[in-house]
Amino acid sequence: MSTCWVIYNGSLTNDKFSDQAELLREAAERAGIFAVAKKNYEVMMDLQNGLTDLPDFIVFLDKDILLASFLKNMGIPVFNDPDVIETCDNKAKQYLQLAKYGLPMPKTIIAPKVYPTFSIRESGYYEKVLNEIGLPMVIKEGHGSFGMKVYLVETEEQFFEWTDALRGVDYVFQEFVASSRGRDIRVNIVGDEIVASMARKSETDFRANITNGGSATKVDLTPAQQEIAMQAAKAVGAEFAGVDLLYGENEEPLVCEVNAAAHIRNIYNVTGINVADAMIAYILRKLQ
Ligand SMILES: Nc1ncnc2c1ncn2[C@@H]1O[C@H](COP(=O)(O)OP(=O)(O)O)[C@@H](O)[C@H]1O
Ligand SMILES: [Mg+2]
Repeated sequence: MSTCWVIYNGSLTNDKFSDQAELLREAAERAGIFAVAKKNYEVMMDLQNGLTDLPDFIVFLDKDILLASFLKNMGIPVFNDPDVIETCDNKAKQYLQLAKYGLPMPKTIIAPKVYPTFSIRESGYYEKVLNEIGLPMVIKEGHGSFGMKVYLVETEEQFFEWTDALRGVDYVFQEFVASSRGRDIRVNIVGDEIVASMARKSETDFRANITNGGSATKVDLTPAQQEIAMQAAKAVGAEFAGVDLLYGENEEPLVCEVNAAAHIRNIYNVTGINVADAMIAYILRKLQ
């Protein structure tokens, strides 16, 4: 093993994406690999000409699933696997998988496909959802990060505004876990190992994401939290995972989501553990 690419999204101008790639690039260099951080659009998906000068492996930090598949088709090992990136990129899809493996999670209903210019408002469907989950509830778009596409719905009026606005979008209805308001746990997993974890807390919002104003501290996981986080990563097939856990009514862990390309800067700052080193070591072990 001598060369690697670290791919991140080039259209996102926020520094945290290039910073994330740089953490991985540096870790690879420390392990003696010649590593290049590349923006996704710097690799042309030219189906006839393909690519030359291929690396030995790729750490894929982007959600450009087509590019990940293109690279995998070139015969290059891509981490995480494109199928895993695709599953995790859509929360509805990953909840299907988590439910299939019986993982504990908040009560969740996947919204049906509704074409944007049509409506099922009069069908009675939404009333059944209200009945089943109750208010307040959480509505979560399939594609979203940093808490930006996760909404707390407190009234029927808000509920119907969202169901109307989200026509054409993949999303889920989810029980609001009140015992976890403003707090959760992030667990970073590499292969079969929990590498680092932190408890996140927000005083101002029900969402504990640090980007959304939360703060974090190092935390020792209970055996149940360890077990559920590991099972969640396995359920979606992730070799690298950032699992978010909620606190159920009796502090029991519930899976909130699994991130395939979890950011590792905050957990590094909080715990002093650089998850990138574990990721590179894992890949080198696997490919040797
Ligand atoms: N069902 C829920 N009940 C209570 N809080 C939740 C629930 N789902 C998510 N949250 C809070 O919102 C945050 C963001 O949700 P999450 O599903 O992790 O989406 P994102 O991908 O945007 O991080 C979580 O970290 C958690 O603090
Ligand atoms: Mg999250």
